[in-house]
Amino acid sequence: MKTKSRTLAKRLKHPVREMLLDRSGRNDLARLEQTLPELKDCAAGMDACAALLRPAYRHYIDNVSNDFMAASLESSAFLYSMARTMQPQTIVDLGSGFSSLVLRRYAAEASNNPVIWSVDDHGGWLEKTAEFLQYMECPSDNLLEWPNTSTIDDIKFDLIFHDMGNMNTRADALPWVTDHLSERGYVILDDMHKSEYRKKALSHMQQADVECYSLRALTHDYLGRFAVMAGPPKR
Ligand SMILES: C[S@@+](CC[C@H](N)C(=O)[O-])C[C@H]1O[C@@H](n2cnc3c(N)ncnc32)[C@H](O)[C@@H]1O
Repeated sequence: MKTKSRTLAKRLKHPVREMLLDRSGRNDLARLEQTLPELKDCAAGMDACAALLRPAYRHYIDNVSNDFMAASLESSAFLYSMARTMQPQTIVDLGSGFSSLVLRRYAAEASNNPVIWSVDDHGGWLEKTAEFLQYMECPSDNLLEWPNTSTIDDIKFDLIFHDMGNMNTRADALPWVTDHLSERGYVILDDMHKSEYRKKALSHMQQADVECYSLRALTHDYLGRFAVMAGPPKR
């Protein structure tokens, strides 16, 4: 299968690097569960979240985008389960699309009236996101085109899903991300399998004094992608 051979090829090409990433993923999950005991509930809820999201995910990758560009079902299930467990009030996904639906689904069932914003650096993808949200009978307001974020520049976010643009745009947006985390805020950095970006993102988080935890043990997908969670800021 094309997809299996991709992760297998990575393992054969970089066996030590892949093994070290697996190990830090396991260690970080244990460290994260100690710091944030709710994470155990979040991990336990991921299968149910994936089952709830799967039909919409299938529709999204078959009709709107594709499985390379959409956030993985694993990252999406983590995002949904984490939101359900930690009940963030202010949320933004940088890089709109399927993640925008996940967060609006959370908002629709949450009792604390969370406010969701979605931002993209590509106007065309914002329009596709709006159409998809309408098709899924979800609110399609609060969509903004990067870098015109003045509407939300005064908000501190409890949850940021960072998955926007190409990897240069994404790295350039990291200072905005850390500046906009609330006191209890966490960011999920997707696509951390990309080693250049991973180096830049981890170095930025260290400089900003924000603790990072690999989510590889929970989000590693068949394309070799995985996410890292960082927060809350220590300021
Ligand atoms: C990794 S994608 C973002 C995915 C989004 N968070 C989701 O869950 O669907 C990163 C960027 O690619 C662009 N994009 C999304 N889908 C695309 C596609 N099928 N082809 C080309 N660009 C795409 C958007 O501008 C987006 O900011």
